[in-house]
This record gives sequence, C-alpha cells and structure tokens, in this order.
Amino acid sequence: MRFYSLPCFFFPMSVTLILGLQWGDEGKGKIVDLFGKDYDYIVRFNGGDNAGHTVISGDEEFKLHLVPSGVFYPDKVKVIGNGVVVNPDTLVEEIEMVEKRGYSMQNLMVSSCANLILPWHRAMDGALDKSGKIGTTKKGIGPAYSDKASRTFALRACDLLLPEAELRAKVEKIAEHKKKLFAAFDYPDFDTEQIIANLLEKAKRIKPHIQDTQFILNRAASVLNKNVMLEGAQGALLDIDHGTFPYVTSSNVTAGAGCTGSGVAPDWISRVVGITKAYTTRVGEGPFPTELSDETGEQLRKAGHEFGTTTGRPRRCGWLDLVMLRYTCMINGVTELAFTKLDVLSGMKELKVCTAYEIDGKKVEDWPLQSEKLAKAKPVYETLPGFSGDITLCRDIDTLPENALGYVRYVEKALDTKVKTVSVGPKREDTILV
Ligand code: GDP
Ligand code: IMO
Ligand code: MG
Repeated sequence: MRFYSLPCFFFPMSVTLILGLQWGDEGKGKIVDLFGKDYDYIVRFNGGDNAGHTVISGDEEFKLHLVPSGVFYPDKVKVIGNGVVVNPDTLVEEIEMVEKRGYSMQNLMVSSCANLILPWHRAMDGALDKSGKIGTTKKGIGPAYSDKASRTFALRACDLLLPEAELRAKVEKIAEHKKKLFAAFDYPDFDTEQIIANLLEKAKRIKPHIQDTQFILNRAASVLNKNVMLEGAQGALLDIDHGTFPYVTSSNVTAGAGCTGSGVAPDWISRVVGITKAYTTRVGEGPFPTELSDETGEQLRKAGHEFGTTTGRPRRCGWLDLVMLRYTCMINGVTELAFTKLDVLSGMKELKVCTAYEIDGKKVEDWPLQSEKLAKAKPVYETLPGFSGDITLCRDIDTLPENALGYVRYVEKALDTKVKTVSVGPKREDTILV
C-alpha cells in the first residue's frame, strides 16, 4: 500500500489546481502569483505558448507564455509538465527575459516527456487556420499535439539529451516526412539544416532543466509533504473534449488534465480554484451567447483592457453567463471560486447575468454541448443593480459597495460555491480574501 494514500487526516493533502472557467484570460496568472507564496512547486500542465499569463508585483509586470507564473518566487520550483507542448525558442527567450530582469530560473524543470513545437508546426498552424478559421494563436499548438497523438513524427524534450548525431538523425527523418507533406499541400518550404542548427543551440540551454518530473512531483507531494500548485492554461470552454468544438484549443485544459499533464496522482488534489471574470470574454472564433456587439461591449473592452496577451487581438466581451459556469464548475469539481475584474464593472448602471437560454422557443438550463446548438442560444437575463466608484482599494469584502457585494453573493448562491477571492485590480495586492 502506498503510505501516502492514507486518509487526509494523517497527511495534509497538498495539491491545488487553478483553472479558468470561461474562454481563457480569466486572470490565472494573477491568482497563481497571489497564492504562489504558499506553494513549493508551481506546475504548468497543458497548452504551450498560446497562453499569456500576466503577473504583476509592485511596478513590475511579466507576460508569461510558457514558464509557470511563479517568476517572482525564485526559490520555488517551477515545472513545465509533460502535458505542455514546448517551443524551444520561446522557452529560451522566456528564461533569458526573466533572468535579465533579475529573477533566477535555476529552479525551472522541464518534463522529459513534454513534446516539442518545431518550426513546421507553426507553419502548418498558419496554413491550416487560413482555411479552417478557428482563429488560433498560430503558435503551432494543434499540429504539435497532432504529432504527439500520431506518435511517429514527434520530438520530446528527452530527445534533446541524445548524442548530437542521434538527435540530428531523428530530426532529419521527421523533416523529410514534413517536406513531402508541405510540398503536397503547397505550404512554405523550410531549411532543415537551419532548423537542426538552431535546435542544437537551444538544446544546450534547455538540457540542464530536463527532468523526470512525474517522480519529482509525486514525491514532493507524498514523501516530502510539499505543496504543489497546478496552473491551468486556457479556460474550460477551450477544452478539446468539453469546450465549444471545433472552436477550441488542441489540449484538455480541465481538471483531469491537471493529472495527465503533470503525472500527479488524482488523490492528491484537495483544492480546485475555479477562476471567472465578473463578465465574459473570448478571443478567436466560435459561439458566445452573451456577447455584446454594442457600446456596452466596447465599454467592457476599454475598461478591462481586453486585448489578447499573446496576439494583441481585441477580446470579444459580454455579460456573465451562469449556464456556462454551472457546467464548468461541474466538470472541474470546483471547490472555491476566484472572481476577477470586478472593478471593471464599476460605473455600469445595471448588470445582466444570463441564467438560462432560449433555443428554438424552449427554455434550456444546461450548457449545449454542440456549437451549432449553442450558436442558436438566446440568453435569458436577470438584471441586477450596478455600482460605481473606485473599488481597487477595497481589501475587505464588507467595504465593497452594497450592489457590488450583492453581485458577488448572487453568483456565489447561483453556483452554490464559495467565492473565496475577489480581485479588484491587476496587482497582487488588489485583492479581497474572504
Ligand atoms: P490569464 O491568461 O488568465 O493569466 O489572464 P491574462 O493575463 O491573459 O489577462 C488578464 C488581464 O487582466 C491581465 O492584464 C491582468 O493584469 C488583468 N487583471 C487580472 N485581474 C484583474 C482585476 O481584478 N482587475 C483588473 N482591472 N485587471 C485584472
Ligand atoms: P490563456 O492561458 C484565450 C484560443 C485562441 C483560439 C483557440 C485555439 O492566456 O488563458 P490555439 O492557438 O490554442 O490552437 O487557438 O483558443 N486560445 C486562448 N484564448 N486565452 C488563452 O490562453 C488561449 N489559448 C488559446 O484564441 O480561439
Ligand atoms: Mg491570457
């Protein structure tokens, strides 16, 4: 028997999952950084450099795509898990950028089992999305996960540890296949020699960080009794199985992926923090029932600075959607909510909250799992009174304006889940802990 599977009163269970409950950009970076001080390991487990997580401490701001949002804590171990697809160029760039700004990246680990994004993946993403129109970030995420699933033409971080001649031979074989494929589809040609030279260069920088992280993380949680935080990328509705397919990303992003993408055993997870903005945003294509294509939507975009962290694209904005959140709380087993960007709603006369949909004349309360059906959904709203004034300095839930507090309590009750964190500004300290 594994001694660490004893009931939790023997050992404090110590793995926390932090996840987005919408279409990404919920403020995961801020919340991971905020909670980070209490954790020893901070782990990314899915996606790649399609993510853009903002962390701010004092006057310093980082926009991170690949390394976990624990850069302000040099002593914490930061792990890029096996479920992440790693672009070696982005990784080296990001390590150097963080180090140049004075924060050590010595404690960064990259799973030996993480798959790599290579230049042909980006080229394919660009070419495929032109016709498919998902509105991807063009970072090569879909093609890299496709190669991972089809196995034969994938490269993993552990391959960077091979003797140079062996790595070269492996890449040449994959490149040969890609060349044929690219010629058949009229994709832009690439220079294999240049790709290999660059990869060998980047490998030198990455090698010291490559580790068998499945063992490290499970032992950290069990034998060492350390606290581990799993940092999700994207949001539940971008999940390849549970999201608005095909307008999704190419990885699982929901709670189960926390385990598969890190190797951490499920019985260690005791806390699941679901993050939702106080309204809804989405970047890229796909149905969005509460989207506001009017002045109010523009007001939200302006007040919330809703422009993509990775691509700079304007984010689509709309009202909070409880049909969506009931579904994403359910599939993630959320134990507590973090409610972000409440300050952005200040000045709105009234706040609308979607409680159900009307589809083909019928009231629907469960999230439609098919995008075609979701596209027909007309939101049924409940209207709550708005609030005004600058709330970014509020640090106590009772100091919020009455209607702001009423809004938080309304959502909490509707989702039957405690709001334990209210974010009232982008900085770490702009937070109310309940
Ligand atoms: P992530 O991908 O979930 O980490 O979120 P992003 O970093 O892409 O986008 C969230 C944006 O909102 C960032 O610019 C954050 O600095 C900012 N932000 C986070 N929380 C708050 C908040 O409570 N209020 C305001 N005004 N901005 C916030
Ligand atoms: P974070 O972690 C918001 C969206 C893209 C596109 C779709 C597929 O910052 O919340 P992909 O490049 O992944 O194949 O694109 O998914 N998308 C995100 N939207 N935040 C993200 O990450 C996203 N990562 C991918 O805009 O619609
Ligand atoms: Mg983001």
